[in-house]
Amino acid sequence: MLKGKKIVLGVTGGIAAYKSAELVRELVRSGAEVFVVMTHGAQAFITPLTLQTLSGYKVATDLFSLIEESEIGHISLAERADILVIAPATANVIGKIAGGVADDLLTTVVMATRAPVLLAPAMNVHMWENPICQENILKLRGRGYHFVDPESGELACGYEGKGRLAEIPAIVEEIRAILSPKDFSGEILLVTAGPTEEPIDPVRYLSNRSSGKMGFALARAARLRGARVILVSGPSALKPPCGVKFIPVRTAVEMREAVLENLAQASALIMAAAVSDYRPQRSHAEKMKKSKTELNLPLELNPDILFEAGQRKGKRVLIGFAAETEDLLANARKKLTEKNLDLIVANDVNRPGAGFAVDTNIVKMIDRFGKVEELPLMSKEDLAHRVLDRVLSLRSA
Ligand code: PMT
Repeated sequence: MLKGKKIVLGVTGGIAAYKSAELVRELVRSGAEVFVVMTHGAQAFITPLTLQTLSGYKVATDLFSLIEESEIGHISLAERADILVIAPATANVIGKIAGGVADDLLTTVVMATRAPVLLAPAMNVHMWENPICQENILKLRGRGYHFVDPESGELACGYEGKGRLAEIPAIVEEIRAILSPKDFSGEILLVTAGPTEEPIDPVRYLSNRSSGKMGFALARAARLRGARVILVSGPSALKPPCGVKFIPVRTAVEMREAVLENLAQASALIMAAAVSDYRPQRSHAEKMKKSKTELNLPLELNPDILFEAGQRKGKRVLIGFAAETEDLLANARKKLTEKNLDLIVANDVNRPGAGFAVDTNIVKMIDRFGKVEELPLMSKEDLAHRVLDRVLSLRSA
């Protein structure tokens, strides 16, 4: 997604300036071209040589350098940028931009660019909380500038509080979000992920091997494309994607409640969760003791969440996944019809590279008109975008 994108990165003078090295590395690793502009203050914390080595391009520092002007002067940088990122952004640079001051190379580039501008503030907590700083931020937000808010924690100045530069992955994610096409803006997408756990007693449960990767990838892709995303997930070790509303659940009954509660506001429901079809009839209050004989564990049916959503479908697009080990197409078609879906994404979970816990998937997508689209092995991220493309095409069909 960042491949070939031209990112102008402004680095200003704060202790977090050293973290810009990691940001440059991460952006270059993602395929972006990074052109660094450093303020005078930034060079007290990290050398241009470090960022030049990591970016592969000469670092611009001087507004009035004759040599720099032709290749990396303020106008050429301003016009080259797909996005201008300032990380870390000090209270000083935020104030200057808000006040229309352009007295060095970086603020001049900001003034001259028509690209989106993202600021990642980092400063002492009292500076962050200062009403003048907050007013400046509010003013810039109102003018369409983007911000990745700082995090709370221990600050370099010895204080505790908000002011620490956002984590590098959060900044990169925001850059991706800003540069992505916004074909889902104004929509709310409801996505489910992960397994459910059905308790037997306080230490044991019935579950399956779902890691949540497929559902989390869908949630992330939808958010990047401008949707407001509600992600309902069973237990997963993954960190929820930035910017989504995350509702953690444990059992199928809890997942049903969360899905049905949020369905009315959603324009599409995509269920990648692997919901347990059955649960123990009884969950024991104490740990069950071992006996010398065999154990029979009576099970009862769980609610079929997607079936219920299909009954109250309205105009929304409903997409299910089918995890199969045999008769992939026939079984998936049956689920598509029975659950009143627009599309079912069928994966043969026995195939290497497909299904549970891996980073890739191999699927066949069957739509409500019976059309089958067969996709080769691809990352779950890429598949998520293909599924979202189908949401759009099914809606217009
Ligand atoms: O999480 P990962 O490790 O990335 O793995 C991804 C995945 C294999 C879990 C995913 O690709 C997948 O196939 N998810 C659906 C698994 C599943 O439960 O399939 P199913 O054929 O049993 O169910 C069909 C559909 O009905 C699913 O959308 C399911 O969410 C839904 N369902 C099932 C049972 C139930 N009681 N209620 C439901 O809503």
